[in-house]
Amino acid sequence: MAEVTLLIHDLTAAVTPEGTGPLRGREFGALRNHSPASVVITGDRIAAVGPPAEILRGLRSGKDYESVDGSGKVALPGLVDCHTHPAFLGDRAEEFELRSSGATYEEIHASGGGIRSTVAATRAGREVDLRSSVERHLGWMLEHGTMTAEAKSGYGLDNETELKSLRAIRDAGRRSPVEVYPTFLGAHTVPSEFDSAAVYVEFVIEEVLPEAAPLARFADVFLERGSFAVPEARLYLEACREYGLDLRLHADQFSERGAIPLAVELGTRSVDHLEATGESGARLLAKTDVAAVLLPACGLFLGLPLPPARLLADEGAIVALATDFNPGSSFCESLPLVMNLACTRLGLSPAEALCACTANAAYVLGAEDVGRLAPGYRADVLILDSPDWRYVAYHLGGDRFAARIKSGQVL
Ligand code: NIG
Ligand code: FE
Repeated sequence: MAEVTLLIHDLTAAVTPEGTGPLRGREFGALRNHSPASVVITGDRIAAVGPPAEILRGLRSGKDYESVDGSGKVALPGLVDCHTHPAFLGDRAEEFELRSSGATYEEIHASGGGIRSTVAATRAGREVDLRSSVERHLGWMLEHGTMTAEAKSGYGLDNETELKSLRAIRDAGRRSPVEVYPTFLGAHTVPSEFDSAAVYVEFVIEEVLPEAAPLARFADVFLERGSFAVPEARLYLEACREYGLDLRLHADQFSERGAIPLAVELGTRSVDHLEATGESGARLLAKTDVAAVLLPACGLFLGLPLPPARLLADEGAIVALATDFNPGSSFCESLPLVMNLACTRLGLSPAEALCACTANAAYVLGAEDVGRLAPGYRADVLILDSPDWRYVAYHLGGDRFAARIKSGQVL
């Protein structure tokens, strides 16, 4: 065995998704439960997971390595949040209060508030403040077990602020233990200075995309009434693909408007939301490699219907879960809470929920080396302060982790 740098010993169990790649159909929810277990880490990689006595025999004595006592605890892979919007300034507490007395999210958006009010606050702020804000949000995620996160721009919607947002995401990612995958959400909504979605999309493609693309891995668009329709979304996504970006899609949140056929046509990595998706859309999506990213905290936060998770899973879709962390529709950074909602509201099992926040979310991001506790994977490990791994989903709003290990470093 190569030089050991960290040993997590005598765990009640180490639990991980089975196999490789995304787990779907009959394999969705397939877990390997090593019990009892120790985990050997070499540098930033997992070297071995197995029975404590066997692991101990394989270790060269006299060598110096750090150790973590796992007695009475469970190791899980660091969680992967594949859909978040952390690059914003200001808040939407006012709007939250309005909604509590009956105003709807779409009404607030239509009257110029909602996303546009966060755009105004984000444009008005300095880049350092935006970077601090992203860093703070990544810190919150880490507390809840997220070690890899997608991070979208989309509260700039002009050249200066979109680039400021993507740089803030990059720089915050460099300062945070969380590994960040940046997304250019240049087509989040039509900003108030434009009166047509088509003219705005033309502007974004010509004036923002060329400089934004080098700062991003993915491109995303909000395909919905009041934002963008299929023709503009197609134009935007195709242009982004020309610049080498992989594609994502916010869609079917309030209404079905042809997003799933478009996603399949373009081969996007995912379609996210799907609260309004009907049976035929779900069946179509399930036959493809386009992942279904479900965001139950958003449905909860807005008091809206939830997506057809069981149908998608049973039809064989690649199902992932994410927080959708943002100030307006899901001010929630907790994947354990999302897992709880998946079990209590979406009809997923705890094992399916865990797969959806680890291996399947890693697939969405093309982050092939995270999401499992297995040799060769990045050593991102959560030590759950319970002997039963299901507590990660079961303990609603609980403080769950005794330790977090990111890339082989105990945080
Ligand atoms: O995923 N639906 C579009 N975008 C975000 C919400 C953004 C906001 O309200 O600020 C979402 O829900
Ligand atoms: Fe979102």
